[in-house]
Amino acid sequence: MREVNVGIIGLGNVGSGTLAILTENAASIAQKLGFELRVKALCSRSIASKDLPDAAASALHTADWQDVVRHPEVDIVAELVGGTVVAREIIDAAIQNRKSVVTANKELMASCGAEIWERAISAGINLAMEASVAGGIPIHSVLREGISGDRVMALFGILNGTSNYILTEIERRGAPFDEVLREAQQLGYAEADPSADVDGYDARSKLAILSALAFGEKITPSDIYTEGIRRIQPIDFQYAQQLNHTIRLLCAAHQTPGGLILSVRPALIPQSTILAGVRGAYNAVWVRGKYGEDTFYYGRGAGSLPTGVAVVSDLMRVAREIRCGSPERVSPFAHERLGEYKPIAVTRQHAGYYLRFRVDDRPGIIAKLARVLADKQISLDAVVQLPAGNPRDLPFIITVEPTSGESIREALTEMSNYDFMVEPPLAMPMEKSL
Ligand SMILES: NC(=O)c1ccc[n+]([C@@H]2O[C@H](COP(=O)([O-])OP(=O)(O)OC[C@H]3O[C@@H](n4cnc5c(N)ncnc54)[C@H](OP(=O)(O)O)[C@@H]3O)[C@@H](O)[C@H]2O)c1
Repeated sequence: MREVNVGIIGLGNVGSGTLAILTENAASIAQKLGFELRVKALCSRSIASKDLPDAAASALHTADWQDVVRHPEVDIVAELVGGTVVAREIIDAAIQNRKSVVTANKELMASCGAEIWERAISAGINLAMEASVAGGIPIHSVLREGISGDRVMALFGILNGTSNYILTEIERRGAPFDEVLREAQQLGYAEADPSADVDGYDARSKLAILSALAFGEKITPSDIYTEGIRRIQPIDFQYAQQLNHTIRLLCAAHQTPGGLILSVRPALIPQSTILAGVRGAYNAVWVRGKYGEDTFYYGRGAGSLPTGVAVVSDLMRVAREIRCGSPERVSPFAHERLGEYKPIAVTRQHAGYYLRFRVDDRPGIIAKLARVLADKQISLDAVVQLPAGNPRDLPFIITVEPTSGESIREALTEMSNYDFMVEPPLAMPMEKSL
């Protein structure tokens, strides 16, 4: 049977891992497929200075991606460049040339996935994006095939390895955020501009893609309430521990009778939950189905080879589909908002909250804060203060019974006005459903 030919554009972390697997593991891949998956073209702007595997020597080497998308023998284009501008041009041109596409690009697929998918379907080609979320965890296959017979009620994830590494290092060593971030940058775990990771935007793109797949709803990143981890301090882990909880940057999608509530934010989760054991750069996804109940997926969220496995597996799936003449016919992104899963504001979610204060100590502070909570009909659960040295910057926490995000927001705005606050109070939901 004739081989299927691949063109790879982008030979950075993911592209080089993909190429290494395609060349080293070629015999096993051919055995599983029943035909060869051959690297026909390779592209990166600095390709001339790259040390490429001998097995790829006969492939076209080019610095111009147009050579790959127009190559008459390339069947599948792997877009592994990243960003949203050139990557979009590459995918559009590949579709126009009736090449199937495999991409690892979460940013692009989160913002324009539905539109790109429609074009792919109209052109009768295949599009696959397993590597775009949670690197080495095959969560797309799970949602689109493995548990597609179920009805997803909720989905939780730890989807950003950098944030998870920083949080778990703060937890383990009690080191401050800035110090751990600097170390993560030196170790190559965090970018020089860490915003996409620590401010939650990377995780938000991934949650947008997963929620679209899980709920069949059209989700855009702006539907998702997003808060990063910059304000988390070692003291928060100490208080969380007092409450038998820990802190993670939690991606959550809850179906409620009013609609879908989507958020990416630091949350307290019970120490006993399996998600609390997800440490370092690992990722995890927890899906709750109406019929199949809970399933859990864990693995490396990034990295050259784990992500390369996801790309190669997509290439194999698309190659099989090309062989069978079976393009996708239905987009995994919804065509329109159906209502049942329509995203609604996170402020409508009811949860218990952890409120952390840093105050310039004086008599009557707790009474004033308790009065604000009472005015908003919020029931106080506990007040905890660990021994601390500096009365000019004294931390303590209040936990409250489940209440709406809206009430908490109003209470925090009022509390922030008190002149004894060293900084605005920090609020984190306490996720009980895990
Ligand atoms: N890193 C991970 O672990 C990971 C995990 C999951 C998903 N992803 C996603 O995978 C994609 C790639 O990420 P990465 O980490 O591999 O990025 P990267 O290391 O920066 O690699 C990007 C590659 O694209 C090439 N490139 C950039 N512009 C180009 C152009 N105009 N024409 C041709 N080549 C061009 C770059 O090389 P030249 O400068 O030589 O052109 C480089 O080889 C992104 O969408 C990312 O979000 C990454």
